[in-house]
Amino acid sequence: MTKQIQIAIDGPAAAGKSTIAKKAAELLGYTYVDTGAMYRAITYKAIKSNIDMQDEDKLTNLLKETSIELKPSPEGQRVFLDNQEVTEEIRSKEVTASVSLVAAHAELREEMVRRQVEMGKNGSVVMDGRDIGTSVLTNAELKIFMSASVEERAKRRLSENKKRGIHSSLEELMYDIELRDKLDSEREASPLVQAEDAIFIDTTSLTIDEVSEKIMKLAKERMA
Ligand code: DC
Repeated sequence: MTKQIQIAIDGPAAAGKSTIAKKAAELLGYTYVDTGAMYRAITYKAIKSNIDMQDEDKLTNLLKETSIELKPSPEGQRVFLDNQEVTEEIRSKEVTASVSLVAAHAELREEMVRRQVEMGKNGSVVMDGRDIGTSVLTNAELKIFMSASVEERAKRRLSENKKRGIHSSLEELMYDIELRDKLDSEREASPLVQAEDAIFIDTTSLTIDEVSEKIMKLAKERMA
């Protein structure tokens, strides 16, 4: 008998979390939850609604009246905001530039965490983000903290952007990543930190398959 477990994957921007989490979920037949997409979705709506990114009350109230759904599909996870698909829109430069500001608000995070705890409560879930091991799936059987050098992460984002038809340069991406690392790690509300019981994986010189193999091995040990 294998146990149904919760897997939490955290780490800085563009460390490869979503690629790995998606793959692990697929191999295990688990649900994948990209929590960054949820913060991106509310940021997209805030931009559309002309809400000030510093206005915590307005942003929190906006989230409370907003439905955000993540639906699996053969092409990857699709994101729905109030029943409208926004999978591509939430990856825009505009959303990327503002999302750390939105994600810094403690009250808004409380509502997000409440929703994410609910999504993970039945187990069989791979969830990725910044605070999954520390605030969301605090009892997860497997917690991973993934990182890679800034240059390597920027290179990966560059090739991802190319595929999506988004034009960017390596320098611009390195700058964005460093800035986002700083904002995510220095904020007061649930900053990006490794959970004490998380396993650290440096993916700088590892392929996707190598990281995925490591994680599958750890997952199978926890499931036995
Ligand atoms: O992983 P990503 O780049 O899609 O995340 C977008 C932003 O959301 C990022 O700046 C950090 C924030 N985030 C967060 O604070 N907590 C999470 N659990 C997931 C993302």
